[in-house]
Amino acid sequence: MPQLLIRDIPPQLKAWIDEKSYGLRTSQKEFVLSVLTNAWEGGEGLPLFDGVQNGTTAPMDGMPFTLVDLFAGIGGMRLGLERVGGRCTFSSEWDKYSQKTYQAWFGELPEGDIREIRPEDIPDHDVLAAGFPCQPFSIAGVSKKKSLGMQHGFKDVKQGALFFHLAKVIEIKRPPVILLENVKNLRTHDKRKTWDVIRKSLDALDYIIFDRIIDAASWVPQHRERIFIVGFDRNLFGSNVAFEFPELPVGPPPKFRDILDRKSPEKYTLTDHLWNYLQKYAAKHKALGNGFGFGMTDLDGVSRTLSARYYKDGSEVLIPQGKGKNPRRLSPREAARLMGFPDELPIVVSDTQAYKQFGNAVVPPVVEAVGRQIVQTMAAHLTRRPNGCLLKKSSRRQVAGRH
Ligand SMILES: C[S@@+](CC[C@H](N)C(=O)[O-])C[C@H]1O[C@@H](n2cnc3c(N)ncnc32)[C@H](O)[C@@H]1O
Repeated sequence: MPQLLIRDIPPQLKAWIDEKSYGLRTSQKEFVLSVLTNAWEGGEGLPLFDGVQNGTTAPMDGMPFTLVDLFAGIGGMRLGLERVGGRCTFSSEWDKYSQKTYQAWFGELPEGDIREIRPEDIPDHDVLAAGFPCQPFSIAGVSKKKSLGMQHGFKDVKQGALFFHLAKVIEIKRPPVILLENVKNLRTHDKRKTWDVIRKSLDALDYIIFDRIIDAASWVPQHRERIFIVGFDRNLFGSNVAFEFPELPVGPPPKFRDILDRKSPEKYTLTDHLWNYLQKYAAKHKALGNGFGFGMTDLDGVSRTLSARYYKDGSEVLIPQGKGKNPRRLSPREAARLMGFPDELPIVVSDTQAYKQFGNAVVPPVVEAVGRQIVQTMAAHLTRRPNGCLLKKSSRRQVAGRH
């Protein structure tokens, strides 16, 4: 095929190709080819492809809006929201390894510690996305902190207080929409006191709040329950906001075997030492009547929740390898797929860091589904004007004789 030249074209068209191909995480050449193919095959209108989702070219439905990505990690929120039209204008993440991944994936280095960023310096935006740190609230985090005699939740001054910093940003920037994500345990933590504080804080800031615990298992073959909190500025959207969390996708749920590589390097097989240890540990806890232990995954089912500590022994998601062979753990690429991150995104950090990053992340296809619902609410709000216009308010005075 002859080389495609995208140099000698008008600057506006070039800018459009730049923006679209960047937003869709595809090369300019691939994007232009998809436009031409669509035109040739008689596609309707502009091809707004999502070039990365599951490696397919699913149509991208959405509307243009801006977002900021706080506590960005590796950008799971951003990936999901970009698929429904979001354009990220600011990100913050202080972990240098996550920053490295973020830069490789999105071409920009997130700002560091959010507490050192003046909210006024964050650009105006439509949607504020934040998967604020969950260790102070997660069951594993709480028991670890308790056992170390440390404070947890809001009493964990350093990490818990990050929510209040987030609230400050919301208060000053007043994003029309906020999308927060956290562990399921956030609702019940500290006899629901933590959740009460969060709800009341957001309510006091004049946001109408919707929350739902969503299990990612309908999108990826992993049982992963997380709380999604969506808030709409009451001053902008009014008190009767029509918002619904997404329905579960139709069709058969994904199976664990779908995310596995055909062949796996031997290094992911558990050593005899580790496998014996895990079996003994599980037997001891079974005898004591509790359920701690490894998770041998049903290949036709879903795995347990991938955690940020997976790098230690891989015990929560083990893969059977047949009789006579020790099970193995996931490769980082398989962990990425289990979280719904597409294969096109390179893994640029060590295995340990990659497991931590994926175990900490949000599942982008779930964010995409929630994002699509947010977009619907934003669009309904935009089109709600009685005069049928998108932006123009009704003018009281009509010029006589004109329509
Ligand atoms: C639960 S993770 C969010 C993961 C993200 N949703 C994703 O998809 O990768 C919380 C993130 O907040 C970051 N973080 C914690 N304290 C921070 C701070 N003070 N400033 C900036 N980032 C911080 C952590 O390094 C971690 O990556």
